[in-house]
Amino acid sequence: MARLFLAILIISMAATTPPAQAQAPTNWAKRLNPGPDTVTNLQFYFHDIPSGTNPTAVEVVQPVATASDSNPFFGSVVLVDDPLTETADVGSKLVGRAQGMYTASSRNEAAIFMSMSFGFVDGPYDGSSLSVMGNNLYGNPTREVPVSGGTGIFRMARGYAVLRSVAVNSTSGYVVVNYNVTVYTPAAAGAY
Ligand SMILES: *[C@@H]1O[C@H](CO)[C@@H](O)[C@H](O)[C@H]1NC(C)=O
Ligand SMILES: *[C@@H]1O[C@H](CO)[C@@H](O)[C@H](O)[C@H]1NC(C)=O
Repeated sequence: MARLFLAILIISMAATTPPAQAQAPTNWAKRLNPGPDTVTNLQFYFHDIPSGTNPTAVEVVQPVATASDSNPFFGSVVLVDDPLTETADVGSKLVGRAQGMYTASSRNEAAIFMSMSFGFVDGPYDGSSLSVMGNNLYGNPTREVPVSGGTGIFRMARGYAVLRSVAVNSTSGYVVVNYNVTVYTPAAAGAY
């Protein structure tokens, strides 16, 4: 009986006690900055150039697709050091480089798994980077790839990139992709 009474007392206390203040100070955890995240939008063009005299995308592992796979590229691994420019013209201002790799990740779909660092070289973003990692369903006119982190001005960034192919040359393999990137960086990340 006493135990039941105690249980009821605890439940009624819980119901009337206001929720703990989210920012109540503790000795073991501190919220350094309660301010809002910085939201940054970036728009640029990615050039994947697999052939010609100066390729920026090089296949280092051959496909492993079998006759029953409808994606003949499945298993191919491509290393990239692709330019990122201000407009769709590869001769326009260089804003950064996409360095890393992608692999044809689906036996039956047009998909590449991207794992790249986008290092920027322009303006206040010079020296900062974003990590882009996820599946890119490049057969779709628009698709989304996660931004999983960053450095410098983008320290602790989280976000997403919406991709749209603007030019595809099926003879040379040269592809130009518009990137519309939205990233949130917490003010508490410091440094900037
Ligand atoms: C596509 O690439 C081929 C081979 O490099 C080239 O001859 C052709 O002019 C390109 N097409 C366009 C539309 O740029
Ligand atoms: C870029 O993405 C943002 C956020 O998703 C969106 O509001 C904006 O309309 C997009 N811009 C273009 C040119 O597509």
